[in-house]
Amino acid sequence: MAELGVAIVGAGRWAGRAHLPGWLRDPRARVVGVYDLDPERARALSARAPGCRVYSSEAELLADSAVQVVDVVTWGPAHFQSAIAGLESGRHVLCEKPVHREWTRTRDAGEKARSLGLRTKVGFTFRFSPAMMRMRELIDEGYVGRPLVFNGFEQNSQFLDPLTPIRAGEGDPAGGAEIQVSSLEGYGAPIIDLALWFLGAELVEVVGQLANLIPERLVPGSAVPVRLPIDDADAFLCRFANGAIGTIQSSYVTVGNYPGLEARLYGTEGALICRLVEEEGVCERLYGARRDQVEFRPLEIPERLYPPGGGPTEPWDSAFYANLIAAFTSEIQDPGLPAQADFLAAARVQEVINAVELSHRRHAWVQLPLEG
Ligand SMILES: NC(=O)c1ccc[n+]([C@@H]2O[C@H](COP(=O)([O-])OP(=O)(O)OC[C@H]3O[C@@H](n4cnc5c(N)ncnc54)[C@H](O)[C@@H]3O)[C@@H](O)[C@H]2O)c1
Repeated sequence: MAELGVAIVGAGRWAGRAHLPGWLRDPRARVVGVYDLDPERARALSARAPGCRVYSSEAELLADSAVQVVDVVTWGPAHFQSAIAGLESGRHVLCEKPVHREWTRTRDAGEKARSLGLRTKVGFTFRFSPAMMRMRELIDEGYVGRPLVFNGFEQNSQFLDPLTPIRAGEGDPAGGAEIQVSSLEGYGAPIIDLALWFLGAELVEVVGQLANLIPERLVPGSAVPVRLPIDDADAFLCRFANGAIGTIQSSYVTVGNYPGLEARLYGTEGALICRLVEEEGVCERLYGARRDQVEFRPLEIPERLYPPGGGPTEPWDSAFYANLIAAFTSEIQDPGLPAQADFLAAARVQEVINAVELSHRRHAWVQLPLEG
């Protein structure tokens, strides 16, 4: 089968640490070009991929007939436009989260892709961790029985120090009174995705709070901290359509190492806890307990779930992303494979984010599905 030609839009930190290494590791794909608003960054990234060109505009990228996949790694507000342009030009699209802050726009993009016969994928990195993949296999095999309670965390101390500059997304750095969604989207999205994936059921209601615990921060381009009312911690209670209940917390001002996820699922037959927190050089651990053996014990993560050449001590970003990209290439090449973490899955996650934000503003439970 011919190699898939991939063009990367956005040549910053995450493109260099996760996306490009993932594509370089997949022999079925080749990175044919890079575009960034900053040509120096595009040049530096393209130099790492043999035969890769640098585009001077996104239009030039879209006009390149060697491109079958557009990989969008820019930043929040810019994702949607590039993703839609990719789809409308007939390309499969990998896009960082959020595709769009409004769940209906993400859903519409997902439906557009399906109607055009194109594949999409969103950067839900942690679904592709070998330990989380194993957890899903065990759930499918009946290890936990009927799911009863889910607890999820995504948290670390990335922005505990107010002198670490943070981009405010579409928030108002000049000090609007209303708190803006931030951690819930950046950190909450992947653990919400895992909750929906593990439970295999929609959420039917949520009640939650957004908090702004470090009120003044440095933002890019400012020499002194400014008032920045963003959610740097949030938590919500939820109920799933199958009757299970859950709690989810996300924060980037909570002491702890990266990436900082923990997913716990308790059921009628057993329980599973997956921790993606780098400790003593290992970034993922899976524990299980059964109703007749209630002490949690470490469970093996099979070698077959690691990307080629990978293992338990490989850095999480390159290891998990290599799996994500390999899954995307497989889905593009085999129309029979089910979509994993596509734009429609991202729309369900975004709907939950939008519902939790609404719950915070109304100070009340919010039912799903949302209107729209
Ligand atoms: N899935 C994950 O686990 C994960 C982890 C880290 C970052 N991310 C996401 O990856 C994205 C990139 O993050 P980063 O840390 O690399 O940021 P970054 O600022 O280092 O890189 C972004 C790059 O995009 C370029 N850019 C911005 N708008 C553009 C546009 N319209 N056209 C072309 N280029 C444009 C910028 O010039 C910059 O080089 C963000 O959306 C971030 O949330 C995801």
